[in-house]
Amino acid sequence: MQVYQSPEVLTSRLHLRLVRQEDLPDLLAIHSVDEVNHHLPYVTWESMDDAQVWYDKATTRHEDGSAAQFVVLERDTLCVVGSCLLFRFDLGSLRAEVGYVLGKPFWHKGYMREALAGLCDYAFNQLGLRRLEAEVEPQNEASRHLLEHLGFTCEGLLRQRWITKGEVKDTYMYGLLSHEWPPAATDGG
Ligand SMILES: CC(C)(COP(=O)(O)OP(=O)(O)OC[C@H]1O[C@@H](n2cnc3c(N)ncnc32)[C@H](O)[C@@H]1OP(=O)(O)O)[C@@H](O)C(=O)NCCC(=O)NCCS
Repeated sequence: MQVYQSPEVLTSRLHLRLVRQEDLPDLLAIHSVDEVNHHLPYVTWESMDDAQVWYDKATTRHEDGSAAQFVVLERDTLCVVGSCLLFRFDLGSLRAEVGYVLGKPFWHKGYMREALAGLCDYAFNQLGLRRLEAEVEPQNEASRHLLEHLGFTCEGLLRQRWITKGEVKDTYMYGLLSHEWPPAATDGG
């Protein structure tokens, strides 16, 4: 999938741009909180080494065209509040998956809804994707509500799909098609 060289998304309160090395201290602060990683397939970051391993993977994926890893910044303060990504690009099927994480101090402000609305606009209108997918642990109520607000449909439960952190996990598969975007109640950011 051809991702534009320096993709940027602006919404009313947020700025999304590709992750940079200089973002790692802020991302470490976000990912060093157990509650943030609870429903993610990653262990809690403990040091800049963990951040660097994550960043090196993101850079490799940018280079091979398989993902676009964004950071989410507040426009007013330039503070990094979280991250989101498009990954598992399937060029033949014009499809990708979304992932997202918000730092705990920034929950309950509607930030990720706004950020993902911008990301959906970018994916459908600029990249020309046809379908976006998201996998969510059944217990991750906030994430499921978020996707449903954005117009994603829960398409089924994939039983025992993952073994993460030593546990067998089911996952809900959510999907959003380009012609369903934007949903009636969302202005796309
Ligand atoms: C998922 C995440 C981005 C949501 O961000 P948020 O700012 O906390 O979201 P909100 O507080 O706006 O909650 C979204 C919706 O879920 C609801 N919700 C939040 N926490 C909930 C909970 N524990 N149980 C039930 N509903 C919950 C909210 O009421 C809201 O619904 P509403 O819009 O109808 O009011 C954030 O929780 C996060 O980063 N979590 C850790 C990483 C993660 O799980 N990423 C997703 C992986 S699939």
